[in-house]
This record gives sequence, structure tokens and C-alpha cells, in this order.
Amino acid sequence: MSYILVVDDEADIRDIFELILKRSFSLEVVLAESGNQAIEVIRTRGVPKVVISDMNMLDGDGVYLFSTMRESGWNVPFILCSTNAKEVQKRYPEMYGVIEKPDIVGPVALMVDSLLKRSSIKLTFVPIRITFLMRLGSTSYDLHMALSDSNFVKVLNAGDAFVVGDASRFQAKNIDYLYLTAADADLFLQSFEKNLSMLSDSARSTSDLTGLSLDSLESVERMARSLGWTPDVLHAAKHAVDLAVKTVSLESNLFRAYKLRLSSGGGHYARHVGLLAFLSCGFCYKLGWVSESTQMKLGLAALLHDLTVDEEVYEDINMWNQAASDLADKTPAVVKYRNHPYEVANLVLSMKNLPPDVDQIILQHHEMRDGLGFPRGLNPNRISPMASVFIIVEDLINFTADAVDLDQSIQDFLKVKESMYSMGNFRKVFEAMRESAKV
Ligand SMILES: [Fe+2]
Ligand SMILES: [Fe+2]
Repeated sequence: MSYILVVDDEADIRDIFELILKRSFSLEVVLAESGNQAIEVIRTRGVPKVVISDMNMLDGDGVYLFSTMRESGWNVPFILCSTNAKEVQKRYPEMYGVIEKPDIVGPVALMVDSLLKRSSIKLTFVPIRITFLMRLGSTSYDLHMALSDSNFVKVLNAGDAFVVGDASRFQAKNIDYLYLTAADADLFLQSFEKNLSMLSDSARSTSDLTGLSLDSLESVERMARSLGWTPDVLHAAKHAVDLAVKTVSLESNLFRAYKLRLSSGGGHYARHVGLLAFLSCGFCYKLGWVSESTQMKLGLAALLHDLTVDEEVYEDINMWNQAASDLADKTPAVVKYRNHPYEVANLVLSMKNLPPDVDQIILQHHEMRDGLGFPRGLNPNRISPMASVFIIVEDLINFTADAVDLDQSIQDFLKVKESMYSMGNFRKVFEAMRESAKV
């Protein structure tokens, strides 16, 4: 059976890792106390899926283990936890990831999650939405185009202007993203906050700002899919949500955001998440819950809510939701999907610097007003007000996802769901939606 190998000389840290990893992943977790012991484990058991190793250990340190594994031809993603992570990363760029101590458990769990879902090849390139690049006007980094999952060519040099013509040229070929190298993505993330505030200051109109807000939310989501939810990605996410919070207070017509997005390409999931974050913040605001922290919680919950779900699921999300609500369906894939709110809430709990309640919104995001949701089939009285906003907004987005005529589809939604959302917190959100649809 494939396994995760954890190497650390401190028993406490090994135990924490074992607990978190076992709770979040279905792989066996094997523990070793030193580099040499880890090598013994690999010789007897075969190569693991991933190695998570401490740096300083007496009987063979992290770098020794890494080098020995490479010399032996054991090509396994290697995550090193160290107090001078950036320094080590420069010296060993081939390491899959390096995590700065002391806050290691959350970032490691997220990195393992992104690793188990994606091939390591994709990780070397990180997608950025073309509309976002175009707003920046020029690029400080080389930009690449994906020919396939593993093949990238450079199409623009650092410092080149990036103009409307370039964007349309790519978009005409249905290309919605260009790619940065992972190293440049780090720098890009560091300047994200500055760029975003510069762009929002120079937005020409509210609808321009709305477009920027959606672009930035989607860009963050794409980066997280490649890099995992590292502290830098999370930091950028907060700024993207912050912009959404500012924008929704100015935007009189929330559904305009939706229309704007329908005409643009891009992945199903990125679009779903961007709209969900934006509209959740928006309806929260319309309800008079103007506290920015409430909106921040909803926005972050939207970005994170389906972290462990495969993107392909979104091609037929309604079918999966239906299958998962039928608790008698024990097909492994359905059971896994049914449990994703638990999985994600657990991962989110291990992340540092997140506001409270985000995990609760995520845990409840598939519960339903009629008590027939999943994973817990919760009594509707127990669904929190914030989760109620999330649930209705997501229902609306899924309902209207393939609409040819969005206005009509929104009206249909309001008609079909009226009795379902006629009580408690749900009713207030639903009313706010009805008001917005009149604008
Ligand atoms: Fe979703
Ligand atoms: Fe979900």
C-alpha cells in the first residue's frame, strides 16, 4: 500500500503529523526518527508517495536524506521543514516544497493535498488569467503558453508590454490563461497586494471594478490549485476578498457581475469559485450584514470550499450533488464526494491565520433547507446564517450555470425555489436575491 513518510526526531511533531495526515488522507502514514531510519524504511517498504522531513536530525539530516534518495533514483516529492526554508529552497530547487518552521502542520497538509491531486510537472508552471495580465499592462515576468499539461513555450518576455491585441489573439484561440514559472509566481504573489490596490484605484467604473474583483478571485484560486494554499497564497486571497467586499458595496446590480462572467472563458471551477465569493459577499452586504469580517469569512469559505474535490466534478456538479444526497449510495467515489465538507473543514482548521467560522461554513455548505443535504442531513434550524447565504448563492449558481438566457434562468430559480427558501435565515437571503433581480 502506498504511504506518506514522515521523518522527524521529535516524537510530538511526528504524532501531530500522523494525526492530521491520517484524518485528511486515506494513505498510510509511516514515521521515522532520522534520515538513516527513513532510508531503511524505503528499502524495506518501497518508495512512498511523498516524504515530509525535518531538517536537523542527528542520525542523517534532511538534506542528507534528500541527496541519498536522489542518488538512489528514488524520485519522490520531498517536503522539507526548516527554520531557514527560503535559503534551503535556493540551494535545492528540485525539492517539491520547503516549509518555514514553526507553523508547519497546516501548510504541509495543504501541500500534500495539492500534491496528491496533481502531477509534479504542472507545479513548475502557475496559471494567471489573461484578463488580469492585460489590466497590469506589462509583465515583469516571462509568460508561457501551455501546449499540453507538461509542455510550455515562452510567448512573452519579462518587461514586454501586454496589450489588448495580445489578449484577443490568445482568447481567439480559447486560451484564457498564461503561465508563470513557480519561482516567478512567488514574486507575483508578493506584489499581488500592491498591484491590486493600484488596479482598483485606476478602475474606470463600478463594472470595471467588478470585473477586476472577479479576475483577482479567480487568479488566486488558480494559483492555489497549483501551489497549494501556502501562506503567501492565503495572504493574496485575503486581498482579493477584501477588494470584493469594497466592490459589492458600490455595485448596485449584483447580477451584472454574473453576466460579465458568462461571456468570459476560463475553467468551470475558477469561475464558480469567483462568482460564489463575489455574490456571497454581495448578498451578505445586501442583507445589512455589513461587517467586513463576516463578508471576509464568506469570501474565504467560497475560495476554499471544494479544496479536495477534483475539478472534473464541476463539469456535472448537479449530478454529483444529487448522488451524494442519496445516503444509500455507497459507491466509493460518491462517498468520497459526500464527505468532502468534513475533509475540507479539517484541512482549513489546520491553516493558520484564517478567521474563525470559515470551517463551519464549509462543513455546512451542502446541507439543505429541507434537511436532505449532506454529509449530516442537518436540521435546518442548525444551519448557521452565514452558511445559509452560501448555500442559496451556490444553489443559484449551479441552477443557472448553463443558462442561455441568464435573466430568464434567474427568474426560473426564484420561482422554483420560492417555497424551499420560505423560512428563517433562508427567506431573508432569498428576498434579497429577489430584490436584486428587479434592478
Ligand atoms: Fe461549489
Ligand atoms: Fe462542495
